[in-house]
Amino acid sequence: MAGFGKAMACREHVRIRLGARFMSSSSSSWWQSVEPAPKDPILGVTEAFLADPSPDKVNVGVGAYRDDNGKPVVLQSVREAERRIAGNLNMEYLPMGGSVKMVEETLKLAYGEHSEFIKDKRIAAVQSLSDFQKRFSPDSQIYIPDPTWANHHNIWRDAQVPQRTYHYYHPESKGLDFSALMDDIKVREADFDLLTKNAPNGSFFLLHACAHNPTGVDPSEEQWREISHQFKVKGHFAFFDMAYQGFASGDPDRDAKSIRIFLQDGHHIGISQSYAKNMGLYGQRVGCLSVLCEDEKQAVTVKSQLQQLARPMYSNPPVHGALVVSTILGDPELKKLWLKEVKVMADRIIGMRTMLRENLENLGSQLSWKHITDQIGMFCYSGMMPEQVDRLTKEFHIYMTRNGRISMAGINTSNVGYLANAINEVTKSA
Ligand SMILES: Cc1ncc(COP(=O)(O)O)c(C=O)c1O
Repeated sequence: MAGFGKAMACREHVRIRLGARFMSSSSSSWWQSVEPAPKDPILGVTEAFLADPSPDKVNVGVGAYRDDNGKPVVLQSVREAERRIAGNLNMEYLPMGGSVKMVEETLKLAYGEHSEFIKDKRIAAVQSLSDFQKRFSPDSQIYIPDPTWANHHNIWRDAQVPQRTYHYYHPESKGLDFSALMDDIKVREADFDLLTKNAPNGSFFLLHACAHNPTGVDPSEEQWREISHQFKVKGHFAFFDMAYQGFASGDPDRDAKSIRIFLQDGHHIGISQSYAKNMGLYGQRVGCLSVLCEDEKQAVTVKSQLQQLARPMYSNPPVHGALVVSTILGDPELKKLWLKEVKVMADRIIGMRTMLRENLENLGSQLSWKHITDQIGMFCYSGMMPEQVDRLTKEFHIYMTRNGRISMAGINTSNVGYLANAINEVTKSA
């Protein structure tokens, strides 16, 4: 019955959404005015890769970790957690806010093992479907780095929150455009009408906590301190997307540096954490959304609202991934194993950066490839133009997004030479 009710509600929903374009009540023509949705720029790359029969093909499009044989990895810590869970798992609903144990452990990773904010119960947090953050936006607009993970735009568009961008990447240096970023944060309210990009006091900002996607460019510790200071002066709210904790340095604690700086400076931040990458739980959709509040009372109130948002969307989050996470993080031995495995993944990527750069230099490329090893995390923002990427795909069966982003995790000792040669060929005349 419940399923039937849902299906009917869904049908009604579609009718309402199609609105004026819904022309006929005959069921055969219900969908005739529906247009195909545009291909997702990232997931579309994988589709094209899978359809290519070439034995040489390489996928450096999608941000998912692969081992040196190009195979997906299930961490040993995850396998062991699953072994322990098996047989002990019932199929009951989780609470709307998800697994309490998983959330508890997840907050320690971001806010610090001995965080006073956790002790004082000042954090409103719920288990989320990985990077679920779209309804969380107290401001009328959101400032997003330029560029950013493409789906950030979809998330805020879907939530009908106007988007603005702030400067982030400097194409010439292939590093951070720190002074432009600071200008965007600092500008006085009186200047606001004259400038397109700058933020008035009290704006809502999205920051990548570490291993920025797509650029692989993070502020230094000193720069984070300056950013945090200016946020304080201007009264901005910082919302951190932390999808790669551990992938930048190999140490999740070190990768939380940006967050810890903001906490030291007394900010009331929000964080979205994901275990897709650092535990390899991509398809399990497990993450955590948290908001640091004034006090416990406010945290209880905010949490009740977060749960309220979850109710019509998915009611309560899935249980399996949350159990895996809480089993690993709740057991000192398993946590140690996981930390070791995160480091292995991060180190392999760092090694591939060195190899790709060396290969390009050995081929005699006249271009500088220093940024390959300067950038960090899963991605290298190569600086290649869309037409060069098109050539890589057409002539060499190498797949990546047209912005030139290379997923370093897709590179291995067998394909790095082939990739370097292809990159050298398409960038020769640049
Ligand atoms: C910055 C950023 N946030 C979130 C995600 C997605 O995380 P999840 O798979 O947990 O939704 C990604 C990558 O896929 C990302 O790059």
